[in-house]
This record gives sequence, C-alpha cells and structure tokens, in this order.
Amino acid sequence: MTNEQRKILVTSALPYANGPIHLGHLLEYIQTDIWVRFQKLRGNTCTYVCADDAHGTPIMLKAQQMGITPEEMINQVQLEHTADFKEFHIEFDNYHSTHSPENQTLSEDIYNKLNQAGHIKTRTISQLFDPEKNMFLPDRFVKGSCPKCGSEDQNGDNCDNCGATYSPTDLVSPKSVISGAEPVLKDSEHYFFDLPEFQNMLKDWTVSGSLQEEMSNKLNEWFEQGLQQWDISRDAPYFGFKIPGTEDKYFYVWLDAPIGYMGSFKNLCDKRDDLDFDSYWNKDSDAEVYHFIGKDIIYFHSLFWPAMLEGAGYRKPTSVYAHGYVTVNGAKMSKSRGTFIKARTYLDHLNPEYLRYYYAAKLNNRIDDLDLNLEDFAQRVNSDLVGKVINIASRTAGFISKRFNATLSTHVSNQDLLDEFVAAEQNIAALYEGREFGKAMREIMALADKANQYIAEEAPWQLAKNEDTLERAHQVCSMGIHLFRVLITYLKPVLPELTAKVEQFLNVELKWADIGNTLVGHEIQSFKALMQRIDMAKVEAMVDASKDNLVAAVPAKDQEQKKAEEATSESAIEPIADTISFDEFAKIDLRIARIVKAEHVEKAEKLLRLELDIGTETRQVFAGIKSAYAPEELEGKLTVMVANLAPRKMRFGESQGMVLAAGPGGKDIWVLSPDDGAQPGMRVM
Ligand code: MSP
Ligand code: ZN
Repeated sequence: MTNEQRKILVTSALPYANGPIHLGHLLEYIQTDIWVRFQKLRGNTCTYVCADDAHGTPIMLKAQQMGITPEEMINQVQLEHTADFKEFHIEFDNYHSTHSPENQTLSEDIYNKLNQAGHIKTRTISQLFDPEKNMFLPDRFVKGSCPKCGSEDQNGDNCDNCGATYSPTDLVSPKSVISGAEPVLKDSEHYFFDLPEFQNMLKDWTVSGSLQEEMSNKLNEWFEQGLQQWDISRDAPYFGFKIPGTEDKYFYVWLDAPIGYMGSFKNLCDKRDDLDFDSYWNKDSDAEVYHFIGKDIIYFHSLFWPAMLEGAGYRKPTSVYAHGYVTVNGAKMSKSRGTFIKARTYLDHLNPEYLRYYYAAKLNNRIDDLDLNLEDFAQRVNSDLVGKVINIASRTAGFISKRFNATLSTHVSNQDLLDEFVAAEQNIAALYEGREFGKAMREIMALADKANQYIAEEAPWQLAKNEDTLERAHQVCSMGIHLFRVLITYLKPVLPELTAKVEQFLNVELKWADIGNTLVGHEIQSFKALMQRIDMAKVEAMVDASKDNLVAAVPAKDQEQKKAEEATSESAIEPIADTISFDEFAKIDLRIARIVKAEHVEKAEKLLRLELDIGTETRQVFAGIKSAYAPEELEGKLTVMVANLAPRKMRFGESQGMVLAAGPGGKDIWVLSPDDGAQPGMRVM
C-alpha cells in the first residue's frame, strides 16, 4: 500500500434502548461496518465504537409501564441489540452504554468546561406540567385540538390534518398522554448551551470539512435562519445524569448521547494498551474521526456536537456522513403491511448477508432514501451473488478437485484478463473509500460477467472430454478460481461470512494487499455450496411474521416462552382426549386430501409444509410428520384432513387445516396410499 497507515475512529448513531433493531437501523450499521471492514482490510488502524442510547423520558416511562427499573430494561435491550448486531456481522470494536461511568465523567467534564468558558446560560421558562404525574411534559407527550383547524387528538408540535406547526401551549384542550390530566403551565429554570456563540466557527468547519453537499446546504439554511440557544436541562423525574451543581436538574438525553461516542471509546482504551484516548480527541490529534448517522439527526451532529467539542477544548469530527431513510416496497415501513421488519424477524427467515449485499448494492454517498423492494431484493441477490459470483467457482472447482488432485494449474491461461481484474483494485478502493458502495458492486459484477463469459467461451466441460485438451481444461478452470479469488477479496467487506467459507475452500486468507498474487499450483479444498438462492416464500413468511402485532407487543422476556409454545404446537398428532358430544364431532369437516407438494421448513424440527388438494381448492398445512416421511415420499399420497379448522398463523406461515395420520409417532406414522375409491374432496364419514 502506498499511502501511510491512517488512524481512524468511526461511530454509528447510538440506537435508543427502548426498542428492537429493525431493517431501517440496519442500513446505517451495515453501511458503517462495510466502511470499517474496508479500512481494516487496507491495513489502516480503524476503530469502530457504538453504544445504546439509554437516557430520556420515553425510556423512563417505558420501564415504568413494564414494571421494571430503567436499568433492568436497558440491560435487557442491550443484550438483544448486541445479539442482533452480531448475527448481521456488525463488528464493533466496542459496544457500550451511555448510562456508564465513563460517559458520566466525560459529560460532567465537558459541561464544566463549557460552563467555565461562559457558554452555559440559565433562564426561567414556562412549560406544560402534568399535575397528576408531577412531571413536565415533552412535546410528544401532550395531545389536543389543533389551534388552527380544530382537528382533535393532534400532537404537541404539529397538526397532521392541516400541517400547522405550533407550540404545545397553543393546543386547545390539551391532555397529558401519560395520565390524561389537563396540563398546567409551570415555571422552571433551564440551562442553555449558547450555540450562537459558535456560528463563525461552525461556518468555517462547514467549508473546511469534507461534508456532503446536501449537508452544507442544510447548514447554510440553518445559519440564515439564525442559530438558537439549546436547552440542555430537564427537571426531575428524569432518567439521566444530574447536572453538576444542581439538585434536581438532569442533562437532556441529547447532551450526553454524542458524548457516548467518546465514553465507549474511553471504555475501550481502558481495556487496550494500543489505543490512547487523548491522541484521538486532543485538539492537535492526527487521527480521523467519522460519525455515520441518519438524515434525521444532522442538526445534533453538525451543529451542537462540533460546537460542544470546540467549546470544551476537544477536536471536532473530520466529517459527519448522513444517509437517507429506508423505505420498504416504496413506502414508509408499516406494521400493518408487515414491512416494519425487526432484525430478529429477518434472521428467523433469511441469511443476513443477503441484506448486507442488497444495501451495499443500493448505497451511495448521498442522503437519498433507499428503497428495499422485496422482489428486487430477492432477484438482485440471486442473480448477482448466486448467479454470477458463486457460479464462477461452482462451475470450475469440482473438476479441479476430481481430476487434478485439487491443485490449481501452474500456468495462467489468460494473463490479460487477470490483469484487468487486478487493475480494478484502485478504482474499487476509491469507491469504497468514498462510500459509493453501489458503484463498487456494479464494477465487481461487471468483472463477474467477464469471468463467466470467459468460462462459457472456453467451455472447459467440452475440453475435458478429450484427453488432448484436458490440460487446457485444467488451466481454464484454474483461471476461473483466480478470478473468483480476486472478486471475493473485493467483496470481503460486504460479505464476511461468505468470505470465511471461501477462505477455507481456497485454503488461504484473502488480503487486499495480495490481490496481485496469483495462487498458481496451489492446493484447494473441496467446494461446498456457499450460498442458497433466496426463496420468495421465505421473504413472504418474514412479512407475514412482521404483521403479527401480538408478537410485537409481547415483552422481550416472554419471547422464549412463546417460542416454546410454537415448538410444541408443531406436532399435529395429539393424544386422544376426553369424550366429545356427537354435535361436537359433527362440526368437524373431514375430507380426503391429496398431497400435491411437500417440502422442508427451514429451522423447523418436526414440520413439513404440505400443499393439499381437497377437490375444490388447495390448502397449505404445516404437519409434524417429518420424522416419518421424506417430503418426496409424501407427494401423491392421500390423507384425511380437518378442513374447517380455523387457520392459524405459525412462525413459518399460515396453516389452513390439519392432516390426520395414524401410528405411535416417531418413524411410525402413516398417511394413506392412493386407492381406487378415495378422491380428493370426499367427506370422511
Ligand atoms: N439515539 C439517537 C441517536 C443518538 S447518536 C448520539 C437515535 N436513535 S434511533 O434508534 O432512533 O436511530 C439510530 C440511527 O438509525 C439513526 O441514525 C437513525 O437515523 C437511523 N434510522 C432509524 N430508522 C431508520 C430508517 N428507517 N432508515 C434509515 N435509518 C434509520 O436517533
Ligand atoms: Zn390543524
């Protein structure tokens, strides 16, 4: 590598500790993780830290609702967040919490420095107060009628009906969302950070830093409107850090949240000898600091945060990189449409690397929103990763293993083509560096097309038929592997798990610096399937599972219980119970059904998915008969089904009935073999 090793600190925004990670959040963590992995792969010293954002009124109230302490809640949520991130291969160097001793020390220190430098002002303001709950109400906890159009049940700051913006004190017949009580106005002393004092510094920072164009434009708008002092205090009760020198004032959550970046890094430095906190945060630091954020929190990161750092004598971020919002199938993520998809629900159905690739393929360095179109998602991943990239190895590896002792040829059959692949390195690196991941993926796929074209033209399967051209076939297949190796090295930041499998298969660690070194005469391992195609049925099952509002409402600790229940309900074979009346029996509509299709259900121990023809229609049923039959043995057989059983939603999809089978269980369960008489749709009497 020609450039000197860089020292880089990277952060993603800190997710709130009162809700699960969803596919919207993941755009940011995947974007950041790819960039960080790229920097590490290039040999830079790059450190990626994050934390849960644990303070504030919503978190305090949610814990109250759940009947637990905020500490209990944030600990529980942090476990869930870190588990989700881990499975999506988001590789933080440290994941901490803003509710930590490091963050408290740093927050107090920064506040004291700002205060000593005269940047903190106090003044008394009048705010809505809930007389029953004895607390001041944040804007979103007040509702009432719009002062302009009179429409009822509007939020404290703007009207959904006419779009008017106003202050919560303007609402007609306001109500506290928490208690329903009518709020009263109450005075309280507040602490303000004097942002306008930093206007000139911020203007300089805006032009000197490598900010995105859209962000500079936004900042200029804000400068023109004039900067306002920022209210950084909240009255008790509040879940947060107490402001030094006060009895009952707390830092507003957004004061200590960005300091949480430093807090997490401090926590890491204390564990590691090779990282020195000051050398990253001192004014004269030679390190680079980048914050990856969503477009909704630009104000906090590009105005308050650099001003706080400047005022407290720290260095400012090198840059702040904002991304747009994720939409699903062209619309805002929605619970009723099943497109508000939690990380966990996704993981129950699909491989995380599909999403990493799709986001990479669609990301650029701008602030545009990004649409996750689920059809396009499946199609893109299948055609690019499975159809193009993996195809190169699956077409060539077997032959090398079987016929050439798993050893690559010592001769490179098309040096020009290989040179072209290697030469793409600089361009691809520049695209990664500039967060133009979509362009990088297109470059890589264009190369993959060339590799496939080369293999198709050379047709090694033809060459292999003839003893004279056998060696040529070996060279062509080895060439395929050389090209494949370069491509996977380029994809390594996006697809770490796939890369690990390829590294095992190729018997070598893939390093960016080794792109130009070809594996001639190298021994490889046998090729195993690297990635399955996306089955649209699984995508649909994920959307179905996301529609289930009941599951969404179940507190986290009950999820295990729910899973256990679902697992036991997999079995369709119930023991004979108490007697039932004839009327009860008569209600049961038993029909002969022909099993037209049977298949495995991923992650289900006992279930098979059956498609049943009952004469008039086809039904889907999940049946616990996997222990007795392989799916292909069932196709064409008959069974008796309960046709009027209420459909029930399972983890994998809807089960529209129940099949009956006979036997003690395990391997010994039987359905019917086709016979002359019975036909699909017949009633069983
Ligand atoms: N806690 C604050 C951040 C504090 S940083 C000092 C916060 N948390 S959040 O959980 O609401 O969001 C975390 C990050 O995820 C933010 O950068 C936010 O923009 C991003 N996203 C949340 N929903 C998103 C989408 N639907 N699409 C893309 N990014 C989204 O804000
Ligand atoms: Zn209105």
